[in-house]
Amino acid sequence: MQTVRFLLIGLGNLGRRFCEVLREKNDLLLHRYGLDLRLVGAADSRGAAYEPALGLNLREVVRLKESGGTIADYPGVGERGWAAPELVAEAEADLLLEASPVNLEQGAEPAMTCVRTALQRGMDVVTPNKGPLVLAYQALHELAAEQGVALRFDGTVAGGLPALNIGQRDLRGAVVHRLEAVPNLCTGYVMDMLAEGLSWQEATERARTEGVLEGNGSWDLEGWDAAAKLVILTNAVLGYPARLEDVDRTGITGLDGGELQVARERGERYRLLARAEQDEDGAYALSVAPVPLAPEHPLGRLGRKQMGVVYATDIYGTITAIIDEPSPVPSAATMLRDVLDIYVEGR
Ligand SMILES: NC(=O)c1ccc[n+]([C@@H]2O[C@H](COP(=O)([O-])OP(=O)(O)OC[C@H]3O[C@@H](n4cnc5c(N)ncnc54)[C@H](OP(=O)(O)O)[C@@H]3O)[C@@H](O)[C@H]2O)c1
Repeated sequence: MQTVRFLLIGLGNLGRRFCEVLREKNDLLLHRYGLDLRLVGAADSRGAAYEPALGLNLREVVRLKESGGTIADYPGVGERGWAAPELVAEAEADLLLEASPVNLEQGAEPAMTCVRTALQRGMDVVTPNKGPLVLAYQALHELAAEQGVALRFDGTVAGGLPALNIGQRDLRGAVVHRLEAVPNLCTGYVMDMLAEGLSWQEATERARTEGVLEGNGSWDLEGWDAAAKLVILTNAVLGYPARLEDVDRTGITGLDGGELQVARERGERYRLLARAEQDEDGAYALSVAPVPLAPEHPLGRLGRKQMGVVYATDIYGTITAIIDEPSPVPSAATMLRDVLDIYVEGR
């Protein structure tokens, strides 16, 4: 039996749901894999809690967060104002799960400091948070390699779709000439609504009600989210050191609803397509733009809650993977997939 003590930063859609997934899967992990995953510390925006001996009770953590509370109110061991980076610097643990907001404008903090500190302290790290990977992909990987620890981030691209896993593991030995991805639900949803004749305001309100659009939406609608995911895919799968500024980015905010309706009548479906295309010199041109996709395109029939990726390779043919993701559970579960990859598959 292997006990893995872990810290969880961020207890929102993903962090809280991960606790629920773990509760559900605990017995299976123990019996099938001999793995005892123990949550010893957690933090949200208001504070933290740390219980190294027994671990935090997952049911109590979920109850606190579902009732709109903070982990700082965890009975006996919670503390208001205890910041996530301090918890990671002080706690004894084997693994960090980082699921706080992306915060690219703030240097991806507090995730960046949490991830760096954990790696420096010899912890393995799993994160679905794009921020640190987009800003410091190479540096974080070098640090993980120096420390002999694992850094996994399958949840950063296209929710629960194992786009990175397929690309990194199953395309080994190949050259990927072209990568195309629809890595984001929100933009496809809004464009489908516009194609049905809704106004911009109605379409974005509907997307908000459905839970696929948050905040003012500019991160998604202006294509930043898709560009960030393309940068991670390009680094991880193509081995090409791209940065956000290398992506030729067009969001969907300038689109005219009439154009989308005409495309729909032609049988086409608009999607915000992230693309990496290799030129003759082996360099990749990176772009994000709304594109009308014909039904014959591998991603041309994506539904409103679906995302996908296409890899066109030299020796493995063209591979398409699609996920139907009606809730954030598959995204939360990517953290479990990554944890099992580290502790069950070995390094
Ligand atoms: N939602 C998805 O479907 C999805 C899919 C793939 C990847 N991701 C990524 O996963 C991460 C989490 O997403 P989410 O949807 O779970 O976000 P969320 O619902 O907004 O939850 C964010 C969590 O982080 C906490 N937090 C905010 N600022 C913090 C700080 N300074 N220190 C510590 N904790 C802080 C929040 O605390 P409070 O609870 O106190 O507000 C909350 O618990 C993001 O990076 C996101 O891009 C999300």
